[in-house]
Amino acid sequence: MIQSKVILITGGAGFIGSHACLVLLEAGYRLIVLDNFSNSSSESLRRVQELAGAEAASRLVVVEGDIRSADDLSRAFRAGVETAGSEVQTTCPVDAVVHFAGLKAVGESIADPLAYWEVNVAGSLQLLSAMRAHGCRTIVFSSSATVYGIPEQVPIPETAPVRPINPYGQTKAAVEQLLADLAASEPCWRIARLRYFNPVGAHPSGRLGEDPQGTPNNLFPFVSQVAVGRRESLQVYGGDWPTPDGSGVRDYIHVMDLAEGHLAALETLLSEEPQLLTANLGSGQGHSVLEVVAAFAQASGRPVPYQLVNRRAGDAACSLADPAFAASRLGWRTQRSLDEMCRDGWAWQQANPKGYSS
Ligand code: NAD
Ligand code: WQD
Repeated sequence: MIQSKVILITGGAGFIGSHACLVLLEAGYRLIVLDNFSNSSSESLRRVQELAGAEAASRLVVVEGDIRSADDLSRAFRAGVETAGSEVQTTCPVDAVVHFAGLKAVGESIADPLAYWEVNVAGSLQLLSAMRAHGCRTIVFSSSATVYGIPEQVPIPETAPVRPINPYGQTKAAVEQLLADLAASEPCWRIARLRYFNPVGAHPSGRLGEDPQGTPNNLFPFVSQVAVGRRESLQVYGGDWPTPDGSGVRDYIHVMDLAEGHLAALETLLSEEPQLLTANLGSGQGHSVLEVVAAFAQASGRPVPYQLVNRRAGDAACSLADPAFAASRLGWRTQRSLDEMCRDGWAWQQANPKGYSS
């Protein structure tokens, strides 16, 4: 019997991780999810199993634990041995790690940088040490376009300077550097550093989606909560940016496209010689805040009232990926439009007005 590869997914219960788990299960992988549920619920993984069907669901094992804990990491790697089954014992029970676990709110990182350095940097260090101890040297890392800071050039190529402007971005840049140092010290590492632009939307079933705790920081969840009636109106941060309609422009990427980008990166790493690769995951297409508001109102059939207010500190006028490298090296490009992001985001919001606790 051919055993499928075993992938350890840290943070697999979260927004992006849950969609990636579904895509990887559908591609035939065995998954171990390690999550401490600090910003998610096990309900997302239950739904991943339900969407994947019974056979695929049996290939997902959940380990509740923290990436900062060597014991929890050992439990997750041991779960890899059990998942690989008794017929075939490999020296490397976990074939690769996809590392989503982390904290991601810019404002919170400014207020509590210690927490961000501890979870994002010390947690990644602990994970990488455990990987080395268990003979696993393949990792896909969730980095962010935030490492570019305020870009000098748009679309932004991967060669643009890494100049983060807040502690969250500093932690992502630090882990990127750590991964580059590891690759230089031991050339057998296979590493993908994926810089996501603005992930939004939801699985088209409306069963998986983004479930922010408290007031959303990001545009998309805020707009959808206004449309569903949980919030009165949106504040548009700045109407005087040097953009066509004066509001900020971003490269929104459907979370299913992003999940498929992880599959492409993982398969590239597993099938090629060891390497360190760094790829933007974005569409290269920009949409303004006012365009998002109009598209969401259209998709939901609900009004999205808004007021123009002052610019938010730390924002750029425009952030767009140059997606050429991902297309040529990973054979991956985005497929889904802004209207599909709004349609699927709305289906999720409507069916789950209070997220997974609805
Ligand atoms: P999320 O908060 O929904 O998911 C993160 C998951 O990690 C959650 O399930 C959380 O419970 C878990 N987690 C947090 N700390 C942990 C710890 N110490 N041990 C184990 N599990 C832990 O976030 P997301 O939007 O799915 O983001 C996933 C990754 O992608 C993060 O690293 C984030 O920085 C990065 N990223 C996100 C965005 C975005 O806009 N969503 C953009 C760029 C990069
Ligand atoms: C998008 C646009 C705002 C909220 C952030 C992180 C980045 C990455 C993705 C993790 C901007 C405007 C927003 C609102 C608004 N995350 N806006 N009213 O700032 O591009 O990126 O999320 O890595 O690191 O910085 O995304 O969704 O916050 O903002 O007008 O209530 O919407 O000014 O133009 P951002 P966002």
